[in-house]
Amino acid sequence: MSECSDGKRPDRGGEWASDVVGEVLLSADQIAEAVKRLGAEITRDYAGQDLLVVGVLRGASMFMADLIRSIELPIEIDFMSVSSYGQATKSSGVVRIMKDLASSIDGKNVLMIEDVVDTGLTWAYLKHILELRNPKSIKMCSLLDKPVMRKTDVVVDYVGITIGDQFVVGYGLDWKDKYRNLPFVMVPKR
Ligand code: IMP
Ligand code: MG
Repeated sequence: MSECSDGKRPDRGGEWASDVVGEVLLSADQIAEAVKRLGAEITRDYAGQDLLVVGVLRGASMFMADLIRSIELPIEIDFMSVSSYGQATKSSGVVRIMKDLASSIDGKNVLMIEDVVDTGLTWAYLKHILELRNPKSIKMCSLLDKPVMRKTDVVVDYVGITIGDQFVVGYGLDWKDKYRNLPFVMVPKR
């Protein structure tokens, strides 16, 4: 996106975010491309089967909203909320369920949706407790994957984009609870 005549850069979030936006890592267009590809893969892999798509709040909210519109199957959706980093930018390893699923997953194909898998501790914990509820299958689709940060050997079945050891913000990912509403993913100025 080019500069506007007034010199503002809408692709960098406008004036309200200009103090915090460092490098734009993924533009809205790059995200849309990844979402489209993942939607097509999921549509192909679950064709003819039931599918429950579960968004992990709050980070996955924006990705989930876009992704489910690119899945061309009669899916069901649900949400869970787990505690994550709080105000810090490093994983505490403490995972707590703040909001549980609304319905049973017994015998269902479950696809979990995350904004990012970092240490993998959240996904490992969720997989463990949800497998006890006897789903037919349980897989993970994450917009971002940071494999170099892993502290467990969990598999991310569908990955939007692999990144390195970077703290990123926007498109659902927060920095001190803010900036989830940026339409792109950036590395903040700190
Ligand atoms: P994990 O348990 O270390 O895999 O972390 C999972 C959760 O940590 C994600 O769902 C995010 O909420 C949060 N997180 C990890 N990396 C980042 C980041 O770079 N920016 C913002 N949140 C992050
Ligand atoms: Mg999260």
